Amino acid sequence: MQNFTFHNPTRIIFGKGTIAKLGAEASRAGKKALLVYGGGSIKKNGVYDAVSASLAAAGITVIEHAGVKPNPVLSHAREGVKKAGENGCDIVIAAGGGSAIDEAKAIAAGAAYSGDLWDFFSGKAGIKDALPLFTVLTIPATGSEMNSGCVITNEATKEKFSAMGSALFPRVSILDPETTMTLPATQVAYGAVDALSHLIEGYFSTTDRDVIVTDEITHALARSIIASTERILKDPRDYNARASMMWSATMALNGLQSLGYGGTSFINHAIEHSLSALYDIAHGAGLAIVIPAWFKHHLRKDGPARLEKFGAAVFGVRTAEETIAAFEAWSGKIGAPTRLSDADIPARDIPKIAENVMGLISKWGIDYTRTEIESILNKAA
Ligand code: NZQ
Ligand code: ZN
Repeated sequence: MQNFTFHNPTRIIFGKGTIAKLGAEASRAGKKALLVYGGGSIKKNGVYDAVSASLAAAGITVIEHAGVKPNPVLSHAREGVKKAGENGCDIVIAAGGGSAIDEAKAIAAGAAYSGDLWDFFSGKAGIKDALPLFTVLTIPATGSEMNSGCVITNEATKEKFSAMGSALFPRVSILDPETTMTLPATQVAYGAVDALSHLIEGYFSTTDRDVIVTDEITHALARSIIASTERILKDPRDYNARASMMWSATMALNGLQSLGYGGTSFINHAIEHSLSALYDIAHGAGLAIVIPAWFKHHLRKDGPARLEKFGAAVFGVRTAEETIAAFEAWSGKIGAPTRLSDADIPARDIPKIAENVMGLISKWGIDYTRTEIESILNKAA
């Protein structure tokens, strides 16, 4: 087990009716909020009204920045920075999923920086400061509500890049599982695959394979995600399943999932980010396509040990091949695509996708050749 330092400053307020607490929390940091949200789901399910009422009661003025796209884009984030500056916003509030939260993080950092926002993503500048950020989560998936990363797509260059910095940890995140009851079944599935993938990345790329506690945290969270998803898809009003899913997904990428592993890599994410940058597919859908193919590559390169351990603990199977099949069967059963062709991505595009992946893996310091990336993508065709 490797040395680590763990510090996660985000305050989580979890449970039914907790959006009412947002205003009091946010008013400790500011009085004028940029409210960042997506295409309107929060207006249909009551989240917008609950957020507005809580902020108004706390005397917070709101400037709206709506229309965040799933896979949020740079041009819209830049507009948000401009709006925050022109209106003198002193806090940023995101209401929605990873996309709204990530764009809100980018805006919060951009508003405290004199250069261009993309500098953080291209690596030209580090994030030193950001406006205080608060979130109301409506989809369990990314863990963005309790981590310090964000992902933005530069539409001009087709680069989907990430930026990180401790200033991006939300001050407070409100997790009310009832807000997730309006999620379409497809988004439930994509969120579940994404949450599971965050556990898989660390577990399979760890250089230290003797970390009992983190392996067991991974097994437990993975089983919880799978069991919760099954119950949610059977009964979307199952509050306890929604609650378990929401908290599991948050813990799957709040730092806890890789403590003691030493260096880990996000190779499946690197490949997926090119799929969503080039084809605008949902992040979880792209991961469901990439992971079984990458598992096959991992088995050939690193042997069966980790796949066997994961499969036994999570799916109750014995061999590495059975683990790969069980993962693929699970993703397919809950409604995620498992092949490039399921997402209408033609195999002839594989060289173009691999080219795009190389840009991100060199930035993330992941040591894969282009031939390896193409071979993984061919396994996903
Ligand atoms: O835009 P609206 O109308 O809100 O609709 C959204 C969107 O269409 C809808 N939705 C969300 N909550 C809902 C709802 N519909 C009904 N009821 C609700 N309660 O769901 C759709 C997807 O939302 P989105 O925010 O895009 O999903 P997700 O949370 O999966 O976020 C994906 C983005 O986060 C990035 C991904 O790459 C992608 O860009 N990631 C961020 C990470 C991070 N910051 O730590 C890590 C992840 O690995 C990931 O890369
Ligand atoms: Zn992810």
